[in-house]
Formats: sequence, structure tokens, C-alpha cells
Amino acid sequence: MRVLLTAGPTYEPIDPVRFIGNHSTGKMGYALAEAFAEAGFSVTLVSGPSALTVAHPSIELVRVQTAEEMFRAAAAVAPEAHVWVFAAAVADYRPRTVAAEKIKKRDDGEDVLVLELIKNVDIAAMLGQTKRAEQFSVGFALETHEELAHAQGKLRRKNFDMVVLNSLRDAGAGFRHDTNKITLVEADRVTPFDLKPKADVARDIVSAILARLNAHVA
Ligand code: CTP
Ligand code: CA
Repeated sequence: MRVLLTAGPTYEPIDPVRFIGNHSTGKMGYALAEAFAEAGFSVTLVSGPSALTVAHPSIELVRVQTAEEMFRAAAAVAPEAHVWVFAAAVADYRPRTVAAEKIKKRDDGEDVLVLELIKNVDIAAMLGQTKRAEQFSVGFALETHEELAHAQGKLRRKNFDMVVLNSLRDAGAGFRHDTNKITLVEADRVTPFDLKPKADVARDIVSAILARLNAHVA
């Protein structure tokens, strides 16, 4: 079985020396890659800029920078993958134009610089439209309010079979932490888990996906 994973942030260039990014470290995605490899999967890990590396021989790491690059790399693998897991923190917007030269500080007395942004491709939603009956798609949702309603909305809109909900309200969960507290949201059930190290969270997610795949085959 093959799994396609996206992980990390994306960097959207403003000019040759600047970008728009976010605080994602890629920890959850890389821990998932490891857990899937240990469970016997062939893993393609499409990762935005991250300091992390992979060791397991069953993990192929494809490094990208932008949402557009992440989309192209993921789309190339998606048809052959049985499971898709979208753990990346994809920038929702990018600068509409990328300046060819470094943008110089204004010296005309005006202190405001306006940067125009345009929506990025929604990788999970785009690929979700191509999902076949035997494929299983998992998304992440990081929410600060009305968590369950937002997660259920994403489940429907992006054709996910499962959403891993992270609540930013839980201390020690989310970006820049080694622990996470998740709730698995599916069409017919909601399963909360305790706060755990990300490696254990990854194993919980892989176990839940395997259980659903087995139920599907049975
Ligand atoms: N996602 C994606 N491509 C994007 C944006 C999001 O593949 N351009 C994926 C994420 O990897 C995640 C899921 O969609 O698995 C939900 O991401 P999230 O940012 O929570 O949802 P959005 O639809 O972008 O909504 P919002 O940021 O407004 O909550
Ligand atoms: Ca988003």
C-alpha cells in the first residue's frame, strides 16, 4: 500500500529575499511518515521547508517550497496512492505578483506598503474531486472556535473520509509542541484522544486508518 503525505509549511515568495510562511515545523507529518513506514506502507512525503529529515528506507521525500509546487508533486503521486494524508499547513494566499528585484523601503514619506494576495490552490479539495471509491483521504483541521462544526464542514467540502482535529485551545497542542491532542472526525463518529507525544498520535492515526481500510475490504 502506498500513502501520499503532505507536511510542513509552504513559503510563498514576495521578492527574491522574502516570503510569506507560517509556524508549521512538519513534526506531525514527519511522525506520520515514520508511523506509516513502520506499518509497512510505501510513503511519499511531499514536504514544504522543514528542518526535519527522514531515515526509514520506505519514505521518499519530495521537497517543495510553494503551494503550487506542493500541488504538482502531490497530484503526480495521488492516483497511485491508496491513502492520502494532508498534514501540510498550506498558505491560503500568496502574493499576486513576485517582484523580480528586492523591494526597497519607501523613502517618499509614505509608511504604508500594500501587498496584494491571491488565493492558492486547495490541494486537498482539488485532489478530493478525483478520489476513487477505494482511496481514503485524511485532512487536518486546526481550529480555535466551533471546532467540530468546522471540521465536519471540511470533511464534506474536501471529500475527506477522516479529519484530524487539533484544538489550539488545548495547552501543549499544535504548532511548536512535541505533543498533540486530537479528535478524529468522521461522517458517522467522533473519537477524542488524550494529549500525547506526536509519535504516539501518529500511531493512533495510522491505526484508525488501517481499521477503516480493513472494514472497507471486509
Ligand atoms: N489544505 C490543502 N491546501 C490548501 C489549504 C488546506 O491541502 N490550500 C488542506 C490542509 O493540509 C488540511 C486541510 O486542507 O488537511 C484543512 O486545512 P485548513 O487550513 O484547516 O482549511 P482551509 O480550508 O484552508 O480553511 P481555513 O484556513 O479558513 O480554516
Ligand atoms: Ca487554511
